[in-house]
Amino acid sequence: MASPPATPAIRVLMVCLGNICRSPTAHGVMEKLIQDNGLEAHITVDSAGTGNWHIGERPDGRATQAAARRGYDLSGQLARQVDNSDFARFHYILAMDRQNLKDLRARCPANHQSRLHLLLDYGDTEHDVVPDPYYSGAQGFELVLDLVEEACAGLLHAIQREHFPTGAGAR
Ligand code: 4NP
Repeated sequence: MASPPATPAIRVLMVCLGNICRSPTAHGVMEKLIQDNGLEAHITVDSAGTGNWHIGERPDGRATQAAARRGYDLSGQLARQVDNSDFARFHYILAMDRQNLKDLRARCPANHQSRLHLLLDYGDTEHDVVPDPYYSGAQGFELVLDLVEEACAGLLHAIQREHFPTGAGAR
């Protein structure tokens, strides 16, 4: 039997409006980054939407296909809505845009507000939010991937710096 990890897992939640385009993409990208770095026992990732329209649906086919072309598997995901219990459960709650962040801030208890951030706060591009690709063409989904890939790498480094400074779980 595998022994439990020495350090409790850091839990990350990616949040957008519908949980069918941007946050599933961020979920899939972060999941692969965690796996590629051998950190599955130390960092977990999930995603959710602030809205309820798409609960139970698979990610948008355009997001799934664009992600698959870059080696990310979104096919096992199903949309869910943010739950009030998420604020205590997840250490990093990352909004794709300012409206998502505002909606989260309005619901989040005061003692957990510091867990809320824009995902792109961890990126280093001229973009500060991930634009909603739902009504855009294929290019919108490629931009989501570009921005999310870059920010997830920054997020992973930030988590490692803050929680695993001695390199726990590193391969
Ligand atoms: P997401 O994109 O927030 O990135 O999942 C959207 C998905 C659905 C809708 C809007 C945005 N919608 O209006 O149904």
